[in-house]
Amino acid sequence: MSKILVTGCAGFIGSTLTERLLQDGLQVIGIDCFTTNYDREVKKRNLRWLIQQPRFHFLEQDLLTTDFNLILDGVDTIFHLAALPGVRTSWGADFRAYVDNNILTTQRLLESVKERTSIKKLVFSSSSSVYGGMNGPTAEDQIPRPISPYGVTKLSAEQLCGLYHKNFGVPVNSLRYFTVFGPRQRPDMAFHRMIHRILREEPIPIYGDGQQSRDFTFVEDAVTANLLAAHSSVTGEVFNIGGISHLTINEAVQLMEKQTQKKAIRNFLPAQAGDPKHTWADISKARNILGYKPTFDVEKGIFLQIEEIKQLIKQ
Ligand SMILES: NC(=O)c1ccc[n+]([C@@H]2O[C@H](COP(=O)([O-])OP(=O)(O)OC[C@H]3O[C@@H](n4cnc5c(N)ncnc54)[C@H](O)[C@@H]3O)[C@@H](O)[C@H]2O)c1
Repeated sequence: MSKILVTGCAGFIGSTLTERLLQDGLQVIGIDCFTTNYDREVKKRNLRWLIQQPRFHFLEQDLLTTDFNLILDGVDTIFHLAALPGVRTSWGADFRAYVDNNILTTQRLLESVKERTSIKKLVFSSSSSVYGGMNGPTAEDQIPRPISPYGVTKLSAEQLCGLYHKNFGVPVNSLRYFTVFGPRQRPDMAFHRMIHRILREEPIPIYGDGQQSRDFTFVEDAVTANLLAAHSSVTGEVFNIGGISHLTINEAVQLMEKQTQKKAIRNFLPAQAGDPKHTWADISKARNILGYKPTFDVEKGIFLQIEEIKQLIKQ
């Protein structure tokens, strides 16, 4: 890798990845248009250190309209993270925005790289939401059956990547992340909201009975997976990227209570349409082919996230 494009560089995972790339001495072009899924100021804060780095060039542009020909000269690696995430908000009128930011952006990017032999690797951020529900550790050969409109758009984008690989040889790998957490986690995500509220002694919403379980992936492990997928000699593959911790929401809340030394006020609400009961990653393929080995357990990761949110509350 010599010159890299990161789409969605102001977001949670994109900014953490960009930071790692710059720390590794690489040259990065980052693109983001500050979509309104959460406060623009939070995304600007994610960029604060990045934009001070001489090897980083930030473009505030929308992938739906950007002229990739003006950006891609000299770029050999692309990490495509820009998307509209979130399951619950993908129903109803907002679906159009999911189609635009998740499917059309990816198709535009793929069109612009299909003739460029200078692109050595494109790593696409997919999602465990492509699967739908899971009853145990789930491998990539399980037939995807998304249960949310968001999952449908991520699966479409992932399949577009597969099509462009097959027909035009675009050197793409897709990573299906399982619930990513850690510092800078999006404010709409469960851990962020829960920790924030527990620290402020406010009630935390728990959808369903709290017995739903998740495979939690620490953000630095997701970043490492991106680097491994970029360096790998394989292309056209899909990998599950999970963590080393699988636990229920109730267990996660107990950990937060232990680490904050505060009692959570639980407000149980009806389960939400589109939320799977369980997610559980079989990461054997990523381990065997990419050498992916997650290192952060949920206890350590939650500790770091609590420290970050304590600082944010103080500001
Ligand atoms: N966070 C998770 O647990 C998780 C799980 C599975 C998959 N993912 C995927 O990982 C990627 C990053 O997720 P995140 O949690 O960091 O989300 P995020 O919302 O924090 O980051 C996405 C960024 O993309 C930007 N963006 C969106 N549409 C754009 C467009 N048209 N042009 C330019 N920029 C645009 C947004 O402004 C945002 O800063 C997404 O593709 C998401 O679907 C995330």
